Amino acid sequence: MSKSRLAKRILDLPPYLFAELDRAKADLEAQGKEVISLGIGDPDMPTPEPIIEALKRESEEPANHQYPSYEGLLKFRQAVAEWYERRFGVSLDPVCEVISLIGSKEGIAHLPLAFIDPGDVGLYTDPGYPVYSVAISFAGGTAVGIPLKEENGFLPDLEAIPADVAQKAKLLYINYPNNPTAATADVEFFEKVVAFAKRHDILVCHDAAYTEISFDGYEAPSFLQAKGAKDVGIECHSLSKTFNMTGWRIGFCAGNEDAVAGLGKVKTNIDSGVFQAIQYAGVEALLRNGKIPEELSEIYQKRRDQVIEGLRACGLNPFVPRAAFYVWCPVPGGVDSKEFAGKVLTEAGVVVTPGVGFGEHGEGYFRITLTQGEEKLAEALARIQRVAKELW
Ligand SMILES: Cc1ncc(COP(=O)(O)O)c(C=O)c1O
Repeated sequence: MSKSRLAKRILDLPPYLFAELDRAKADLEAQGKEVISLGIGDPDMPTPEPIIEALKRESEEPANHQYPSYEGLLKFRQAVAEWYERRFGVSLDPVCEVISLIGSKEGIAHLPLAFIDPGDVGLYTDPGYPVYSVAISFAGGTAVGIPLKEENGFLPDLEAIPADVAQKAKLLYINYPNNPTAATADVEFFEKVVAFAKRHDILVCHDAAYTEISFDGYEAPSFLQAKGAKDVGIECHSLSKTFNMTGWRIGFCAGNEDAVAGLGKVKTNIDSGVFQAIQYAGVEALLRNGKIPEELSEIYQKRRDQVIEGLRACGLNPFVPRAAFYVWCPVPGGVDSKEFAGKVLTEAGVVVTPGVGFGEHGEGYFRITLTQGEEKLAEALARIQRVAKELW
């Protein structure tokens, strides 16, 4: 089949930025060198036992072997509503304000199909999770990145968005605690987002994948705590990082009833819901395992301290995160982020992610994940320290 048979939306995808780094990593491994990856945000620890037990139990139940309901089991949606009330003090109607997702990525990616027409603008924060811009483009929209700048605490300056762009915008993605910068936002900021969305009639999708991983006693708020948020927005959550369940593919979307229904309509035409046994395991996680995210956060906090200290010993100046499991750090030595990541890989055998991989405004930074154990982190930091003097 010729390449020209591919749809334009695929041909138009931005080039895969990590191809060279992946090749360099494969070359090192082919030479028998052990590469330590601090690149992927996938928890290294297993899913806690009570959640696995719930899946085992429920997978034996024949009723769970059939097609699940599109919107998710009412029991699962009720568990979400109960968790929201307890965790954020936000009331949700489980019948029409909550829908299950096959991981939050799925909901985030399908949302523009319900709310973006060709010619519409979709706004997303840059640097950011790459799915936002691609999903807007797949729906035929124009994806416009709003820069996240260090001097604004990596929060978007909504007032700086040109009036004609805001006018054409139908959707805005935001994400706090943020990937990749690990920046956090307070309810006051979310209220400014609500006011902006009301002024321009924009649907807000807050990606809340990292609210449950936080340090030093900090608790990340929900977007839905902001006054009027439910009038303009939804929030996508994930059990992936909260309960070490990335492989299970379960998340949910909550908030504005019409937006939830719109996303649901797309989904009924594309997927057939989440395996019910996994939904029951999700109920177990949400209702009876509130301590797990706290325990995980304690582990990540220790790793954070270890990484911050190690990077400082290398002469680097990382931002100290109070949530999410990422450390965002300015690139030293006047090189760009890809060149820097390439050198760290070839000279130290450690994968770090160049900031430009998250958008043009990620240039000048790199990201390290805390999803490796203490020993691996120590080894990676020691390796980087050994080459630091030569490289910057
Ligand atoms: C910001 C952000 N949102 C969403 C996701 C998707 O999570 P999942 O689809 O596993 O729920 C990720 C995964 O890395 C992420 O970093």
